Amino acid sequence: MSQTEQRYTGLVDRYRQYLPVDAHTPAVCLGEGNTPLIRLNNIPAALGLDVEMYVKFEGLNPTGSFKDRGMCMAVTKAVEEGSEAIICASTGNTSASAAAYAARAGIRSFVLIPEGKIAMGKLAQALMHGAVVLQIKGNFDAGMQLVKDVAEHAPVTIVNSINPYRLQGQKTAAFEIIEALGKAPDYHCLPVGNAGNISAHWMGYREWQEQAGNTPVMVGYQAAGSAPFMHGGPVEHPETVATAIRIGNPQSWDKAWVVQKESGGWFDALEDDEILAAQRLLAKHEGVFCEPASATSVAGALRDLKAGKIPAGKSIVCTLTGHGLKDPDIAIEQSKGEDGTKVITVDAELEAVKRALLDNLG
Ligand code: F0G
Repeated sequence: MSQTEQRYTGLVDRYRQYLPVDAHTPAVCLGEGNTPLIRLNNIPAALGLDVEMYVKFEGLNPTGSFKDRGMCMAVTKAVEEGSEAIICASTGNTSASAAAYAARAGIRSFVLIPEGKIAMGKLAQALMHGAVVLQIKGNFDAGMQLVKDVAEHAPVTIVNSINPYRLQGQKTAAFEIIEALGKAPDYHCLPVGNAGNISAHWMGYREWQEQAGNTPVMVGYQAAGSAPFMHGGPVEHPETVATAIRIGNPQSWDKAWVVQKESGGWFDALEDDEILAAQRLLAKHEGVFCEPASATSVAGALRDLKAGKIPAGKSIVCTLTGHGLKDPDIAIEQSKGEDGTKVITVDAELEAVKRALLDNLG
């Protein structure tokens, strides 16, 4: 094998036989997937929890979120089918990913985002990758409807998770977990917005059920202010600090309920302050910086562990869907005034710096 062949290219090449591609499909890849499964040591110890707990850090994908797994497949197939433009509605990460993969493929991308409700890092990405950014005076759900309507009148391929290739790509995260653990975990916890990702994971676990020898209980966590799965129907005005999952009308509604039923899992909701507390906990005690929506999985798992809903002695994987750098505003905002996280202004001289160190060592 030459050095080039040995280099990791991305998940289409790695899992070609499990994906709807043939030997000649030209993969549009950016080295996505192959993300670390990190065992949490400090948090369970500090909380006295008997658990084998991991985070699958999907924030380490090329554009900083799990969307790259699905986008790689969606754009690969769009190009194979001769499409010259893609479109999506997005709370941010899908737009960043779509823009990047379109740039890589040399096609156009159009993204609809809710005005004022998208994290700065995500907007910066969509702009830098050359997407046509349409900011709408409405939320994600309104944008999604507009995308469906406009795609009937224009030659564009929808790359939201209603595009079946998206879920095909995203199912590979389950393959990687089985490869890393030698089996599926007992529980798999994810943040839920449109519920595409939880559905994709379940597809992956089912496809590799034989070699894994088991399937996990799938648990989906929502933000309390946008929790249609808890309300049993759409939420008209979803609100949450976790803007990535500020979704009131999930596109994979039926699929998600099948996952819940087949896996014996459940949905639950967390308040914004619980979500942010978990984000800080991961950053401060494990060195893992994820965006607020991602921390929902860990916040939920810890709460259910403490309550005994998830029994002691089990293995749990929590998906961290996006990188913390996506949303620097929220990170800085919540660090203000917290012990040990404040920025201290000092004179540029040795004594002042020394004093600041000694004051903060205890
Ligand atoms: N976590 C993050 C960071 C997300 O960006 C999303 C979805 C989810 C979780 C939920 O995943 O929709 O498959 O249940 N973000 C979409 C977007 C909606 O436009 O970027 P899901």
